[in-house]
Amino acid sequence: MLAPRKTLWSTPSSVSSLASSLLSPLSTDTIYDVGCGDARVLIHLAQTSPCLNLTGIEIDESRADQARDNVKKAKLNHRITILNENALYVDYSSCSIIFLYLVPRGLRLIKPLILSVPSYLKYYPSVLLKRKKLKVVTYMSGFVGEVPVREERVEAQKGSGWPVFYYEFYKVVGVDWLRVGGVVLFGVWLSRREKLN
Ligand SMILES: C[S@@+](CC[C@H](N)C(=O)[O-])C[C@H]1O[C@@H](n2cnc3c(N)ncnc32)[C@H](O)[C@@H]1O
Repeated sequence: MLAPRKTLWSTPSSVSSLASSLLSPLSTDTIYDVGCGDARVLIHLAQTSPCLNLTGIEIDESRADQARDNVKKAKLNHRITILNENALYVDYSSCSIIFLYLVPRGLRLIKPLILSVPSYLKYYPSVLLKRKKLKVVTYMSGFVGEVPVREERVEAQKGSGWPVFYYEFYKVVGVDWLRVGGVVLFGVWLSRREKLN
């Protein structure tokens, strides 16, 4: 379990607005909400950004149906897809932005999945790998052991506020062939120099 399923705990719109400004999604971004509930965060992000590709993953069937209805009512079916799946078995390789409102244990379980390195790249030296920025907003809890780029509080009641954390990760997406080429050229240059000496 990544978050409670029985009762739906939803993100308030003030937090969705803050998430939208922290993430500044572009049309080329791919956004995921892991455990999307009724899809309110995705709908907000779609309405406040040019992003064309948003996906919600929701394990609860009736909630996923409700999310699809809400997306339809907002006329955003062409931009938002709702998957009725267990988020622990989803491929996150294409996403560039993730929103998470999960319990601390859920964040601990999901982190290695959203940052996973494709198995064929595991044996490449790190310097030869191409990385892509992954922007993540978490609400209420943050990742243990990670320092957020920003930590904000959204006022809930007078004197108290809900924490919102913004992180930037660099996930491995492939081989950096330019670097490989550079290393090969350097090797050739070195061996020629040695022959000449
Ligand atoms: C705290 S709610 C957040 C809803 C929404 N993201 C929001 O911020 O308004 C978490 C949601 O995660 C869903 N969930 C829990 N475990 C899940 C799993 N393994 N895969 C997909 N969804 C899950 C729950 O059913 C619930 O709807």
